[in-house]
Amino acid sequence: MNVTWTLGFPTGNEKGQYLTMDLGGTKLRVCWIKLNQRHGQTELDQDVYQFPSAVKTSDADTLWSFIADSLQDFVGKRSLQGTAENPLPLGFTFSYPASQDYIDHGVLQTWTKGLAIKGVEGEDAAGQLRDAMAKRNLPIRLVALINDTTGAMIASAYNDPDTIVGAIFGTGCNAAYMENVGSIRKMKIDLPPDTPMAINCEYGAFDNAHRVLPRTKYDVAIDEESPKPGEQSFEKLSAGLYLGEIFRQILLDLYERQVVLKGQDATSLKQPYALDTGFLSALENDPLPGVKAQFAELLKLKPTDEELWLCHRLAEIIAIRGARLCTCGISAICRMKGIKSGHVAADGSVANKHPTFKQRWAQAMGEVLDWPQDRKEDPITITSAEDGSGIGAAVIAAMTEERARQGNM
Ligand code: GLC
Repeated sequence: MNVTWTLGFPTGNEKGQYLTMDLGGTKLRVCWIKLNQRHGQTELDQDVYQFPSAVKTSDADTLWSFIADSLQDFVGKRSLQGTAENPLPLGFTFSYPASQDYIDHGVLQTWTKGLAIKGVEGEDAAGQLRDAMAKRNLPIRLVALINDTTGAMIASAYNDPDTIVGAIFGTGCNAAYMENVGSIRKMKIDLPPDTPMAINCEYGAFDNAHRVLPRTKYDVAIDEESPKPGEQSFEKLSAGLYLGEIFRQILLDLYERQVVLKGQDATSLKQPYALDTGFLSALENDPLPGVKAQFAELLKLKPTDEELWLCHRLAEIIAIRGARLCTCGISAICRMKGIKSGHVAADGSVANKHPTFKQRWAQAMGEVLDWPQDRKEDPITITSAEDGSGIGAAVIAAMTEERARQGNM
């Protein structure tokens, strides 16, 4: 549960021009965004920079140099004019657990989602970025460092005031909600107790210490073989990075016990993370010939029709468990806060691309929160989040600048 220094929901009046940057697992997205208040037209121009794959396991200097070079390229191409007195304001989406003393600061607690870049954990990521920009004399000022969940919540609330939570169901899983400063007990914050503060739950790390959730031997293997055993325990059961891998581990086990695919060469099935969530979606939803073709292409395997039905059922079970666990994270927030209605703004590949995720999530929500069977509509619904790492980062930067103009934190 990390404080984010995003203080309250947007009014909808936020406007201005902002640079934003989103550090994903494999790419960097840089945007130039013009906010024109809630009812105006938001304008967005963007470029995506692919990480050389070596960056993922490199060091801080390589990472921040890549990022600062990309920013330099972006502003250069568009001749965006910042000056030393009037630098371009930047909102930085850093979707990893960070301890923040203020909004333009963030000490990385631990890398998640498979990243292993040396020299950033325990350090202020915002400071490292600032140094890399200073070396290049970039006329850019980092205004806000945010989590993707906070971005999703604020971008969505900018347009939809019924937004209660921002959630990511993608490579990782996590959510943010709005708390009162007075209820935050783990640190003393020098603000009036009724000040709203977004909390980044980082609930992908739930169950790291207590281990109350049941785990299969496949879950245990995934954890032990990961770069961070014992971390992101909840995420490893439910997020997109792992769903395909759970399926692969099970199928490989069945193959090794000679239950399926007898006599075939399963070398490609032995490759860790060979299958992604898209493959599971196809197994559940595509007609048999299409799935067969995917098996042949990706794994060089020819399952029988019975084996394909088994795979279909496995894909279904893995996805149902994942979706229901994702419900638990959000329903826990709603229960704790006594939230009875509103919109959960969700983004991420599982939410957007898995065809039955949202329906399963909603069904489980009704079960956990005890909604009447004969309800006409669900009081809490999952909506597609607005662009959190672009528009969300820009709106939060605008909110931060406005507070500074008023002389507040
Ligand atoms: C991981 C990160 C978290 C992020 C989530 C979704 O759980 O630790 O910060 O919000 O993935 O991207």
